[in-house]
Amino acid sequence: MTKPSKHQPFDLSGEEPVANFSANSDFSEVLDKRLNRRRFLQGSVALAVSGFLGQGLLGCSNQSAAPALLQQPAGLLGFDAIPINRFDTVTVPAGYRTQVFLPWGTPLTTDAPAYRADASHSAAEQAKQVGMHHDGMHFFPIDLKQGGQSSDEGLLVMNHEYVDPNILHAFGGKGIPRDKEEVHKELAAHGVSVAHIKKQADGNWQLLQDSPLNRRITGHTPMELTGPVRGHAKVVTKYSPDGTRTRGTLNNCAHGVTPWGTYLTCEENWALLFVNHQQAMPREHRRYSIADEHSILHWETAGRSDDAISRFNATPFADKASDDYRNEPNNFGWIVEIDPFKPDSTPVKHTAMGRFAHEGLIFAKPESGKPLVAYSGDDARFEYIYKFVSAKPYHPATAGPHLLDEGTLYVARYNEDGSGDWLPLDLNDADFQAKARAAGHAFDSQADVLLNTRLAADIMGATKMDRPEWGAVHPVTNEVYFTLTNNSRRHSPDAANPRANNHSGHIIRWREGTSQRFDWDIFLLSGDAFTYTPQHQLMLTEQNHHASPDGLWFDPNGLLWIQTDMAGAQMRSGPFGNNAMLAADVNTHTIKRFLVGPVDCEVTGVVMTPDCKTMFVNIQHPGEGSGPYSFSSTWPDRRTNRPRSATVIITKEDGGIIGT
Ligand code: FEO
Ligand code: CA
Ligand code: CA
Repeated sequence: MTKPSKHQPFDLSGEEPVANFSANSDFSEVLDKRLNRRRFLQGSVALAVSGFLGQGLLGCSNQSAAPALLQQPAGLLGFDAIPINRFDTVTVPAGYRTQVFLPWGTPLTTDAPAYRADASHSAAEQAKQVGMHHDGMHFFPIDLKQGGQSSDEGLLVMNHEYVDPNILHAFGGKGIPRDKEEVHKELAAHGVSVAHIKKQADGNWQLLQDSPLNRRITGHTPMELTGPVRGHAKVVTKYSPDGTRTRGTLNNCAHGVTPWGTYLTCEENWALLFVNHQQAMPREHRRYSIADEHSILHWETAGRSDDAISRFNATPFADKASDDYRNEPNNFGWIVEIDPFKPDSTPVKHTAMGRFAHEGLIFAKPESGKPLVAYSGDDARFEYIYKFVSAKPYHPATAGPHLLDEGTLYVARYNEDGSGDWLPLDLNDADFQAKARAAGHAFDSQADVLLNTRLAADIMGATKMDRPEWGAVHPVTNEVYFTLTNNSRRHSPDAANPRANNHSGHIIRWREGTSQRFDWDIFLLSGDAFTYTPQHQLMLTEQNHHASPDGLWFDPNGLLWIQTDMAGAQMRSGPFGNNAMLAADVNTHTIKRFLVGPVDCEVTGVVMTPDCKTMFVNIQHPGEGSGPYSFSSTWPDRRTNRPRSATVIITKEDGGIIGT
């Protein structure tokens, strides 16, 4: 998601305020000191990868349940890289074709109205249509629960990160104070869509509109809280006096997929939607940048008579105890689990993985008998990267949500010598206790630690990062890659990331060691042509230069897909053109531009069918910041129509593997 600015209420471009004023060291300072120390490369990983790739493409599966060796393995990155452009369309390499799919407003169920180009839909109608601003996404084969790997039919599940009122409403909305129906429509356009889809005989995909599995989850949907924070006094609300339930999920950015086949949606910039007018805001609000003047969309101005809306004003009103929503923001910032195969199931907010601006959640390869491990980045400038390790071991037969409810949350410290430490945020840990005491912070329980995850990480001396976005785990080596999208507030230059004002971002990676240790390295410094990543002698060219890497995904063949989220100004005047998607062979450090998106969009969300022959990519917020009367993009409907976020389905004309 791009971030709010002060210029106009509905301009969502710009950046979020810095909330981390702790004295922890910046990542740039660390990089500065370890340029020539190459612990990471001393391992045998490169050999392991080349051995894997030398056997051809092993990762994709045919229709059968078990992954199978493809008959005709072909080389990776066999396509011609496409040049940058600023066209208002989706561009892919020669030999590939695209289909626009499930744009915002698509009726998802049989009782939903068709999309109307004037955007005159009510809130109730929006709640049955595909939401706005597609983001993280996964394809669940329809026969997954029976052990199948269908590549022709499945559930496409995607996040709808935020709303652009200038496009969502017919005339851009009625202004401030906000109209109640408009706010309800905005809540309904957030959340998640579950879409039952099927490949047709002609190769195009279709939504099965009458499937009972189609579902919208919105800012209104009832949810359960689980894990250590369930029932804590700080999550008690008027809606849930015992602190076990809440309403809705918001600002769902990237996602995760559990080993037991459920979808995780991650709450990122939820704090922007709240306001708390208190001068002395509680730490669980202040450290998350909750505004003290007004929320980004001014929902609080829609009046105090509608509980579903007035809850976004978290100011405790002394005059009216019934309007006390001080704990509402504490019900956001979690990882939400949705079982897409159970349309009546109640989504669950897991609290053991911490509360912050979760970009996504990415699992390490699960190993039977060992704890489950997952990583999550906190996307704000100078925030941290976290790891969750389940208390109970993973066993395929018994794996389920309980594994996410109990465990240890760690935060990363990147040391100068290329080593790293996972620092436990654990009230039972003696080191944590001592550091919290020394810093003058008290926690009444582990739930209190998790509610204040950022503060707990400050206390432990975690490394401040340049906006951690998506992570990806290599399917063979288990190495973890994370995008650090940019950080314009970083003032001191450093050697390995030698840009003050890191406008271009970079990608870090690490390999787990023993005893909470890891080895890390910089995989890629993003930037314009001639930007150089010293560790790997990688010089970017016009074929692959890019900025602000954000979305990140390893396909089953080990190709790393990198999606960009440059802000509007960087797209319009820089050397990079529109936001794009690149494919990287991490073994050879070959990178090629594969896709360029339409005007003023972000490219985010990518997945393939198990046979790797159909790729789904999300195009978010084309025409961002424009409207309500004219739009900088009219993709995909053309003429003078308003732009619509949508999925793009990509196939190879010869029916082959994507990325070969
Ligand atoms: Fe929603 Fe961090 O991008
Ligand atoms: Ca982003
Ligand atoms: Ca993102």
